[in-house]
Amino acid sequence: MKVLVLGGDGYLGWPTALHLSDCGHEVAVLDNGARRGYDDELGVTSLVPIRRLDERVTAWEEVSGAQLSIYHGDLLDAEYVSATLAEFRPDAVVHFAEQRSAPYSMLDRDHATYTQHNNVVGTLNLLYGIAETDPDIHLVKLGTLGEYGTPNIDIEEGWLTVEHNGRSDRVLFPKRPGSFYHLSKVHDSHNIEFACRAWDLRATDLNQGVVYGHHTAQTGRDERLATRFDYDAVFGTVLNRFIVQAVLGEPLTVYGSGGQTRGVIDIRDTVECVRLAVENPAERGEFRVFNQLTESFSVGELAKLVADIHPCTEITHLDNPRVEADQHHYNVVSTGLAELGLRPHLLADTLITSMFELVERHAGRVNRAALLPATQWRLPGR
Ligand SMILES: NC(=O)c1ccc[n+]([C@@H]2O[C@H](COP(=O)([O-])OP(=O)(O)OC[C@H]3O[C@@H](n4cnc5c(N)ncnc54)[C@H](O)[C@@H]3O)[C@@H](O)[C@H]2O)c1
Repeated sequence: MKVLVLGGDGYLGWPTALHLSDCGHEVAVLDNGARRGYDDELGVTSLVPIRRLDERVTAWEEVSGAQLSIYHGDLLDAEYVSATLAEFRPDAVVHFAEQRSAPYSMLDRDHATYTQHNNVVGTLNLLYGIAETDPDIHLVKLGTLGEYGTPNIDIEEGWLTVEHNGRSDRVLFPKRPGSFYHLSKVHDSHNIEFACRAWDLRATDLNQGVVYGHHTAQTGRDERLATRFDYDAVFGTVLNRFIVQAVLGEPLTVYGSGGQTRGVIDIRDTVECVRLAVENPAERGEFRVFNQLTESFSVGELAKLVADIHPCTEITHLDNPRVEADQHHYNVVSTGLAELGLRPHLLADTLITSMFELVERHAGRVNRAALLPATQWRLPGR
């Protein structure tokens, strides 16, 4: 299949592009370089050095013998999006190209409006581009489990059958997310569902949990193929950040009581889930949702896991800068990807020790100040 990976220079987009290429698909990556720009803005860099996109692509072509095309461009440029679709003619578009940090979206008004404009308008441009170029193209969109929030009922796979006053309907699962970033994903989901209904498009929304890990079978083949590894309080995902804190001898910073429970997934399963979705497309007119997680842990459990592996690690509790429940029901239904054949890597079987080794190797690159939360969800003085 021909697959266009949007956000193909990012933490997940890059290894996904390699995985799809390795599985024999013809792959192109598109990115506007925004993620590297946020690093400059925040004064941090990926813990693991990463090459420029063109260098990575050359390295992959050398290592694998496969070809990978690059498109440098912005989803906010609607004409560019349509022209790219018309030129590459993909069977599937995998859409990772969004601002994906909740704390970044909560920094201030400018970051909130940037995030929603970038994500919602970029996705709308893409929907128009697909509808106008070839409505048969399958959109595989990265959503997030955070869209649901923490309702006091089980979280179904995107849809909920509701009975009300003696009548019944199947509706999109009601969502109550916890940041302007997560809200941008909710808006995307509604826009995509509408485009499937109105224009007969086909889409899969992958409501993904928090990703951990670094190596995949492809990125491990050459150090020039490494993907980014974020550890800071704005972009670092929680397990990656805890391991960095443990290696530096810093206390693990748990927000609030640490009872917040989240779905998680190994990066190797992320790339495989996307492959399964691409190779088993949604029907025309179908808005298909998969909850893309393999396990759930509370933040406190993750901290304890890291502290148990790395002796003398302290766990400290900070006042929670976020507005979120830290004791709540959390049961997420996730059957769609398993039915397509996903065989998960579980955290207990994961080589967490290899993540420690990776962090130890690059510990000199850590900006310690960036480990502590700088974003407050509440407005000043409230
Ligand atoms: N990392 C996680 O734990 C996680 C969890 C759930 C969902 N997701 C979702 O997966 C996707 C990828 O996440 P990631 O961690 O790889 O993020 P990332 O920031 O590393 O990658 C996103 C890429 O998209 C590019 N991009 C952003 N806006 C763009 C635009 N307007 N035009 C073109 N390119 C643009 C960025 O430059 C970046 O390279 C995101 O949509 C995110 O919401 C990630």
